[in-house]
Amino acid sequence: MQITRAFSESLTTYPMYTWTVLGATTSWVLMEAPSPIAFAIVYFRSDNAFKPVPLILCGMYLFHYVYRSFIYPFRMRGGHKRKPIVTGLVAFAFNTANGWTNAFAITVLAPHLLSTDWLTDPRFIIGVIVFAAGWIINQQSDAILLKLRKPGEGGYKIPEGGFYRWLSSPNYFGEIIEWVGFALAAWTVPAWVFAWFTGTNLIPRSFSNHRWYRDHFSEYPKKRRAILPFLL
Ligand SMILES: NC(=O)c1ccc[n+]([C@@H]2O[C@H](COP(=O)([O-])OP(=O)(O)OC[C@H]3O[C@@H](n4cnc5c(N)ncnc54)[C@H](OP(=O)(O)O)[C@@H]3O)[C@@H](O)[C@H]2O)c1
Repeated sequence: MQITRAFSESLTTYPMYTWTVLGATTSWVLMEAPSPIAFAIVYFRSDNAFKPVPLILCGMYLFHYVYRSFIYPFRMRGGHKRKPIVTGLVAFAFNTANGWTNAFAITVLAPHLLSTDWLTDPRFIIGVIVFAAGWIINQQSDAILLKLRKPGEGGYKIPEGGFYRWLSSPNYFGEIIEWVGFALAAWTVPAWVFAWFTGTNLIPRSFSNHRWYRDHFSEYPKKRRAILPFLL
């Protein structure tokens, strides 16, 4: 079964000025690219850039964001969900500040990251594992969503498989886990602020997605939760 989401309805999570909009791919690149670019500019100007721990954290951040900014937007199919320019500008500003502050914190503000002792700290080890687990869940879930449409097709279907067995928005679940893992591994204020922002941004969106699926698909699996398996 395939259902189309009205253009105005698709903007309910962005309740702003719908009269000026950007195409989906363009807006993704413009919104996300400032994050890895700002991060790389600040990071590689530091004398600490090639110390082991900062380098691993830099790799984690750029690994995620180079994909999200320059590969993911070109994999989307049939998206009609255009974004208001105001939303794009807010995301542009947030991502620039986020990339800048995280790179600055890792290379300048966090002396604990400059010693190789941090490599064996439980926060770092658990954080890297949690980040990797979140990345796998996010990638697998996004891949399931992106395959739902054939080339040139629009509309919405019920996603199945992977973490969709339990959740309506497992891609958001994975994303939140990823940045909590990064915050654990980096143990800096900007990293925790980013994890918090990711949660406060994506949890309400997962509730709205969940409600939408339940309202539009009578056969929607009853056991599926919005964002937290078996609970929420
Ligand atoms: N760190 C953060 O704060 C943050 C913020 C936003 C997003 N992200 C990440 O960016 C990625 C994409 O986010 P998003 O909000 O754009 O995800 P989304 O709303 O789930 O949509 C992702 C793609 O799948 C399509 N799609 C969604 N549901 C579908 C369905 N039921 N049937 C067919 N196609 C469907 C969408 O098409 P339409 O565009 O036509 O709906 C879009 O192309 C996720 O991995 C998310 O975690 C992170």
